[in-house]
Amino acid sequence: MRPLIAGNWKMNGLGAEGLALASAVRKGLGEGGQGVEVLLCPPFTLIERVARAVAGSPIAVGGQDCHPKASGAHTGDVSAPMLKDAGATWVILGHSERRADHGETDALVRAKVEAALAAGLTPIVCVGETLAERDAGRAEAVVEAQLAGSLPEGFAAAKGVVAYEPVWAIGTGRTPSDADIGAMHAAIRALLATRFGEAGKAVRILYGGSVKAANAKPILAVPEVGGALVGGASLQAEEFLAIIAAARVAVA
Ligand code: 13P
Repeated sequence: MRPLIAGNWKMNGLGAEGLALASAVRKGLGEGGQGVEVLLCPPFTLIERVARAVAGSPIAVGGQDCHPKASGAHTGDVSAPMLKDAGATWVILGHSERRADHGETDALVRAKVEAALAAGLTPIVCVGETLAERDAGRAEAVVEAQLAGSLPEGFAAAKGVVAYEPVWAIGTGRTPSDADIGAMHAAIRALLATRFGEAGKAVRILYGGSVKAANAKPILAVPEVGGALVGGASLQAEEFLAIIAAARVAVA
């Protein structure tokens, strides 16, 4: 399975710096992804410009959220067909920051995933436990419940991607041990295989949370880790390119 390295820019990037970043990643990547799929998820305002800046390169562009409806009276929201229209082919859904800041439930995430699939976007569905949940020994149960509630039928057949992002590892510089990442990814794989059969065995499972150039190699070598969803380190071209290079080593 080709690893996917996705950069989630979150609410960062004005025109000039965003375009400079996208261009630097494009330049550093060269002609081909060399076995690695690369995705940039800028804020809504930059999707069209970034899509233009990477057109003809192996880099894809994604949104960071979408509304479950295709259009209508929803002030301030952006729909999946709008993302597609702007040049995105992917969308991140159910990120813990959206779950926390906007009260997104599993049911809402599932509706958004259905909207993304209907618009022809590939969804990356984020799940992950809080530190209190991990300390209480409930990490796997929490993630399994999030997956059961957030993934619609047809998710695996449409080649949707799951991202395991422990909330306590996001932006903190802390990461789970390789063994803990492996255990969670194995549990997610088992759940996907049980629910979706053969298609569930092919779903890519990304790890996210404080992935940097310095720790990418061992994390990407953990069994069932099919790539990384990168926040802070995706805002620096050199760091992001080094993570992509680490993914190449992991597949070589
Ligand atoms: P950091 O890489 O900044 O920890 O963020 C991870 C993340 O939330 C990606 O979606």
